[in-house]
Order: sequence, then C-alpha cells, then structure tokens
Amino acid sequence: MIEYVDAALAPMKNTGQVRLYDDDGFTAMRKASQITAECLDRLADIVVPGVSTEEIDRFVYEFGAAHNALPATLYYRGYRKSTCTSINHVVCHGIPSPKPLREGDIVNIDVTYVVDGWYGDSSRMYAVGQVKRAAERLMEVTYQSLLRGIEAVKPGATTGDIGAAIQTYVEGERCSVVRDFCGHGVGRLFHDTPNILHYGRPGEGVTLQPGMIFTIEPMVNLGRPHVKILSDGWTAVTRDRSLSAQYEHSIGVTETGREIFTLSPGGFDAPSLAVRT
Ligand code: MF3
Ligand code: CO
Ligand code: CO
Repeated sequence: MIEYVDAALAPMKNTGQVRLYDDDGFTAMRKASQITAECLDRLADIVVPGVSTEEIDRFVYEFGAAHNALPATLYYRGYRKSTCTSINHVVCHGIPSPKPLREGDIVNIDVTYVVDGWYGDSSRMYAVGQVKRAAERLMEVTYQSLLRGIEAVKPGATTGDIGAAIQTYVEGERCSVVRDFCGHGVGRLFHDTPNILHYGRPGEGVTLQPGMIFTIEPMVNLGRPHVKILSDGWTAVTRDRSLSAQYEHSIGVTETGREIFTLSPGGFDAPSLAVRT
C-alpha cells in the first residue's frame, strides 16, 4: 500500500534510475553551488588557531540564513549541525564541537546548502596556522586526485573511469583511497544515484550522459584506507590514526565535458600553501 505522503514524494524517490537535468536545472545548481562556494571562501579567514568548529558551524548557518540557503545536513538522518568538520585523522562526518582548533591541525569543512530545493555540496581542506609538510602534501595529493577525477568526466566515459583516475594517482603517491564513502548524484536530492566510487577500473560502472549531476569527493589517507565509526554514530576516523584529507565538488556532465558548479568565486579551490621563510 502506498500512503499519500509516499505518493507525493514518489517523483523525488531514488529509483535507481539516474536523473538527467535540463538547462534550468543547471542554472539552479549554479545558484545553490555558488552560495556554498562563497561560504567556503569566507571560511578561509575564520579558520585560525583557537576557533572552535562549533563557531564555524554557526557561521555556516548564519551565512546560509543571509542568502536564503538552508544547510542540508541540519536534521538530516538525525544529524544536528549545519556542517561537517573533520580534523586530522577524521575522514568525514566530524561533528562540530566547542573544542578549539590548534596550530598544525588540518580540517575539512563540508557545506551543502539547499537553495530553492537544489543542493550545492562542496568541501575543502583548511590548514590551521602552519602545518607539517606531510599534511600539506596530503592535502595537495587529495586535491589533485579530485581534479583528475573531474577531468575523466565526459559523455561516454563511465563512473569507473573517474574512480580509476583517482585511485591510480593516489596510490602512485603512496597514499590510500577510502572505500567506505563515495560521491553521489545530487541536484533536487541530497544523495541520489549514481554512486561515484573513488576507486575502480576504467569502463566499469554507469555510463555518463549530458545532464547528469553528481559529486566527486575523494577521501585520501596517508596510511591505510580502513576507517571506523566512533560511538557518536557519525565521526569516521582512520583505523591506524593516520591523517586523512578530502575535497569535494558538485559537477554536471555537459555535451563536451563537465561544468564544476562549486568553483570558488575567489579562486581558493586549491589547498593554500603555507608561506615558509
Ligand atoms: N556533505 C556530505 C556529503 O558530501 C554529507 C554529510 S551528511 C551528514 O555527502 F549528515 F553527515 F551531515
Ligand atoms: Co559534502
Ligand atoms: Co557529497
């Protein structure tokens, strides 16, 4: 039996069929995604030693409120914050807390705003003050892996081509790709088909078509790829406590390649390299 609520939501259900969006969808995604990207830009000046991830979370909520944008994570499956803040060996889904960030930390901040029913999902790494060489290198490798994944996106390519491009590069840099989380279809739903694995073999998976919209969001570890979830039910950490990094963009497949919706308006997409004297 189908309840009336289910019937109303039926067109929005994840049916396993990959949704294709038209030009109006791409326009709406640009708008939502650019508010997300602008928020991530603004956080560059806020993420300093001594600030708490709860203060960052409040900024994300308030920046959204000022732009008619609601954080998608708020009350999502029982999650109660506006952002995820994943510090050092935290792989993803770190919960903002009153604990202050410390010089030398690296933190991923993941923001998804819903604007007019469209989801713009992106994350970047932030260095808290001066960080170690190894941490800087991990952030650079992770960002480069995202770019390689994005470059593999074009009509006729497959999701496996994306995963293979990321995995080959990351493992060539003697780092590892987390298997337990993946990118996802996005657009009018937060987490839609297809899954975008960050590992795999060329030619496997779903064939890409113009109009598809999804995220690519590789999590890369300095040590082994294995993760565990802490007792809070959300925080994913590396089992070997090695450092982990992640970058995420929302992108759409075009006739000739891809459009990155969440590009930084200020040009802050890449890890900011520390000035060493
Ligand atoms: N923004 C995350 C992603 O990239 C999802 C976070 S869901 C939460 O898909 F509930 F953990 F916040
Ligand atoms: Co995200
Ligand atoms: Co995502």
